Amino acid sequence: MTKIDIDNNYWVMRSMPEGSNFSECFELEKENSIEIPKGSILTKNIYLSMDAGTRMIMTDREDSYLPPTPIGEKITGTVLSEVVESENSNYLPGQRIRSWGQWADYSIIDPNTMFPSLVDDSKIDLINYVGILGANGWTAYVGVTETGRAKKGDTFVVSAAAGCTGLLVGQIAKITGCKVIGIAGTEEKCNLICENFGFDAAINYKKENVSNRLKALCPEGINVYCDHVGGPIAEAVYENMALFGTIAISGLLDYYSSSKRSPGPKNYDLILMKRLRVEGFFSPDFYHREKEFNPILKSWLDDNKIKLPFQITKGLKNLPEAYLKLFEGGNIGKVVVEL
Ligand SMILES: NC(=O)c1ccc[n+]([C@@H]2O[C@H](COP(=O)([O-])OP(=O)(O)OC[C@H]3O[C@@H](n4cnc5c(N)ncnc54)[C@H](OP(=O)(O)O)[C@@H]3O)[C@@H](O)[C@H]2O)c1
Repeated sequence: MTKIDIDNNYWVMRSMPEGSNFSECFELEKENSIEIPKGSILTKNIYLSMDAGTRMIMTDREDSYLPPTPIGEKITGTVLSEVVESENSNYLPGQRIRSWGQWADYSIIDPNTMFPSLVDDSKIDLINYVGILGANGWTAYVGVTETGRAKKGDTFVVSAAAGCTGLLVGQIAKITGCKVIGIAGTEEKCNLICENFGFDAAINYKKENVSNRLKALCPEGINVYCDHVGGPIAEAVYENMALFGTIAISGLLDYYSSSKRSPGPKNYDLILMKRLRVEGFFSPDFYHREKEFNPILKSWLDDNKIKLPFQITKGLKNLPEAYLKLFEGGNIGKVVVEL
């Protein structure tokens, strides 16, 4: 264990958020020294990735895919950072990495548990490693091609379509040759995904009857639905699935603030009637495949087949307002905090 004298501001969770009252529950604290355990590294954070899925671990649910965030401890999430001090010979000062880390000026990273990956930002902006070339890109790729098993000619629907993961899913489904319909929460988002991101149609779930619109847009039925929200939107999609369709469950935004299990779709019986395949998937299960995914995603990026806008909030102290965007629909594309 090495102790370093350094000023570090960091966010802790003082109480469990209810709904989206993050600014009441997160507190910015400061320490003047950090201890680096043997085998770990100290990094200076450059970008903090804001990910909607982390909301689920801000509840006391014990049966989630990750354990709950302990009250009073540093809040964790994916970070892009530069090694400052290393107690591990595989990581050297000056190297840049993407890993799990802390919402803080500095992260302590245990390479055994926090998925560090060295990144080369000599030819591409660093920020892309939490977008197309990071977990969102891989999740979108797996959601479309492996869990979704989408193929040319399929009718494909994605929810939270103007957010980071949804935008990538929709564009990859277009590359695959699908007819793609996005569901999003404003007219501006619906217009944008059709005009700038190649979606064939969009539905504003806050203004339109989703089931009726899907019926009109997909008379042949939906072959693949990439679900990011669950709830009434998913139920409207189930009603319009084609026989032998696939529901790839990537996220369930509608339930993330609840400490209880979701009630499930009320039209669960349609899984049998329509002989659907319903499968969840979770990116840490395929983080180890980065070297396989990134050349494919990078080639699409280079060929302008895929793009991702960033919404950058500057300053650690402004993090709660950046995080809130994910739950109030305030973002288009990827939300990051730049330090
Ligand atoms: N399986 C995995 O490993 C994995 C990995 C990454 C992400 N994900 C999932 O991908 C989804 C998106 O995450 P992200 O980090 O990329 O966030 P994001 O899509 O950039 O932002 C979330 C967006 O979802 C929409 N939304 C929020 N609450 C909603 C609700 N209750 N009903 C409908 N829409 C809602 C909002 O836009 P509107 O204006 O459209 O409402 C918001 O902008 C999440 O479900 C997340 O868990 C899964």
